[in-house]
Amino acid sequence: MVRSTEARSTNPEAARTLAQLLEGKVAIVTGGNSGIGKAIVEALAHRGAQVVIDYRSHPEATEELEREIGAFGGSSFGVQADVAKLEDLQRLVQATVDRYGRLDVIVNNAGIETRTSILETTPEQFDRVLDVNLRAVFFATQYAAKQMIAQGGGGRIINISSVHEDWPMPGNTPYCAAKGGVRMLTRTAALELAPHGITVVNVGPGAVATPINDATINDPQLLAKLNAAIPLGRMAQPEEIAAVVAFLASDFASYITATTVFADGGIMQSSPGL
Ligand code: BGC
Repeated sequence: MVRSTEARSTNPEAARTLAQLLEGKVAIVTGGNSGIGKAIVEALAHRGAQVVIDYRSHPEATEELEREIGAFGGSSFGVQADVAKLEDLQRLVQATVDRYGRLDVIVNNAGIETRTSILETTPEQFDRVLDVNLRAVFFATQYAAKQMIAQGGGGRIINISSVHEDWPMPGNTPYCAAKGGVRMLTRTAALELAPHGITVVNVGPGAVATPINDATINDPQLLAKLNAAIPLGRMAQPEEIAAVVAFLASDFASYITATTVFADGGIMQSSPGL
């Protein structure tokens, strides 16, 4: 079981304060039963948020996560919804409001990549990557913002983007195109939604030890090459990204909008020193 560092804290006062950070807030996390999404669900729940776990497959993983959260006194529930289907996204927001009465934070985390170049990508691959990584973020933002405006009091839209919103990755062209789109979606939506007190922010992880990177993790040579390119010398753990999201969801991040917070171990600035 993954626990946040803070949950292991031996300082009871610090643990109590942390557990109240997101108290009273209702959050949706898309793609929430694995990888970075799972760590985000745990981090938000540990800090007192009520969390809706969106997932597409593996209901048993979602149930296990709900049990884990229940065991430390947190509140969550799973909703099976494919973010690429707009009716599913609408149902996800509605289910959240039906159960918890409101929506304060949506974390658009679900993401896929094909690792295909411009020469080999099929139209089906392109559409699927754009549907999940960009179109879904656009409409989840729209549906969430409508709910936040209707209930009043503002809200937080946090999009899990990537260093590749701004940093090319040859052999992953559709993904880079989608993340580049999310970069501008966030900047523009943030301006449109600012008058409603809704902030829109991207989190840009670098390489993170999750299933999306299994091919690299399982190839020692490739992993060594990747680690050598990262100034901090290693991939991130999902919890290191989740901690950034929890901060952005909290009142401490009230003035951050229309931008990207990168958590990449310095990879975007790395240089061979030539
Ligand atoms: C991609 C990974 C890649 C990482 C760093 C992520 O957004 O999903 O495939 O390893 O960026 O380049």
